Amino acid sequence: MKRIVLVRHIEGVPTPDDFRVERLPIPALGDGQFLVKNDFVSCDPGTRSRLSPGASYAPPLAVGAPVDGFCVGEVIESRNARFAVGERVMLSGWATHVVSNGRGYCLKVPDLDVPESLWIGLLGVPGMTAWFGLRRVAQLQAGDRVLVTSAAGPVGATAGQLAKLWGASEVVGIAGGAEKCAWLTEVAGFDRAIDYKAPDFEATFADASAGGWDVMFDNVGNAMIDRALPHMKLRGRIVVSGQVADYNTPVDRVPGLKHTAQFIAKRLRMEGLVVFDDLPGFAGAQAELAGLIRSGAVVYREEVFEGLASLPAAFCGLFSGASFGRRVVRV
Ligand SMILES: NC(=O)c1ccc[n+]([C@@H]2O[C@H](COP(=O)([O-])OP(=O)(O)OC[C@H]3O[C@@H](n4cnc5c(N)ncnc54)[C@H](OP(=O)(O)O)[C@@H]3O)[C@@H](O)[C@H]2O)c1
Repeated sequence: MKRIVLVRHIEGVPTPDDFRVERLPIPALGDGQFLVKNDFVSCDPGTRSRLSPGASYAPPLAVGAPVDGFCVGEVIESRNARFAVGERVMLSGWATHVVSNGRGYCLKVPDLDVPESLWIGLLGVPGMTAWFGLRRVAQLQAGDRVLVTSAAGPVGATAGQLAKLWGASEVVGIAGGAEKCAWLTEVAGFDRAIDYKAPDFEATFADASAGGWDVMFDNVGNAMIDRALPHMKLRGRIVVSGQVADYNTPVDRVPGLKHTAQFIAKRLRMEGLVVFDDLPGFAGAQAELAGLIRSGAVVYREEVFEGLASLPAAFCGLFSGASFGRRVVRV
C-alpha cells in the first residue's frame, strides 16, 4: 500500500515537498479489523490545521505520521462482523488502503444512486457542514439575507444553494475571480457574487451590504468577519465554519476583530461548529441532499486528480485559489 506522510511541520503556505509518498506492506488484520481499498480521497483545507506544531481542535500530527483526509472505498478483507467484503465505506486516510476497526469517522455508503466521489464531497463532510451550519447553527429563517464566503468551494456553494432552497430572500457569495463568480450566479443560483480580488471589492461589498445580513456563513476567517460585522442585522448569526485565509498564519499575526461592539448593539451570535457533533443526523441529511442533487436542485463542481502521488499538489492548490469546487484524487 501507499500513503502520504508529513515530512516536516509546516510554517506558512504548504508546498508539495512538505509531504512524501511512503510504501509499506498491507498489515495483517487483527480481530475486529477490516481492510478498505480506497477509490477516492479528498483535499480539505481543515487538514492544514494539524500540520503545524500548535494544536487546533485535533492534536497536531507528528513528523513522519500519515496524513488524514477523507476517503471512500470498498471493503476487500474483513474480520469484523459489521463490515462485509464488498461493502463501501467512507472513513479517513490519505492512502491507497486503510485498516479500520469501524470506530471514529467510519460510515457505510448507502445506496442512493449518486457518484461514489460525492461521499467525500457534498454527501460527506463539506455538504454536512453546510447543512448543519445553516440548520443548527444559523437557524436559518425564511426571508433571511445570507452572505457566504469562499462561496465557490464545496461548503460555501452548498450552503448558498441550501439557503435559497430553504427560503432565504437573497444569497450573496464572495469568491476569488470572475470565473467563480459567474458560476455562482449562472449555475449555482446565487443572487449575487462578489469578487474579493477585484479592485472595486470594498465598494461592491458595501453596496451589497446595504440591506444588511441576517446570516453570515464564513469559511474564510477574521478579516471577512470583521468586514461584515457592521452590516449584520438585529439578532444576526455568524457561522464560523472555517478559516482558510488564516490557517497558514501564526496566531499572533491572524487579524483581530475590531467591531465586537456590534454583538451588543445588535444582539449578534457567532458560533463555530465541528460537524462531527452532528454525526447522528448525517444519514437523514445525506438522503435528503442526495435527492436534491439527483433532481438538479443542488449542483456541484468537482476536480478529479489521478493517483495518490497527485494529492499533495492538489491539496496545496486549496490555498492559492487554484481549486474550484471539491478536489478529489482517484486512487
Ligand atoms: N467546521 C467544520 O466542521 C468544517 C468541516 C469541513 C470544512 N470546514 C471548513 O469550511 C471551509 C470551506 O471548505 P471547503 O472544503 O469548501 O474548501 P474551499 O472553500 O474550496 O477552500 C479552498 C478555497 O478557499 C479560498 N481561499 C484560499 N485562500 C484564501 C484566502 N486567503 N482568502 C480567501 N479565500 C481563500 C479559495 O477560493 P477563492 O478563489 O474564492 O479565494 C480556495 O479555492 C474551510 O475553511 C474548511 O476548513 C469546516
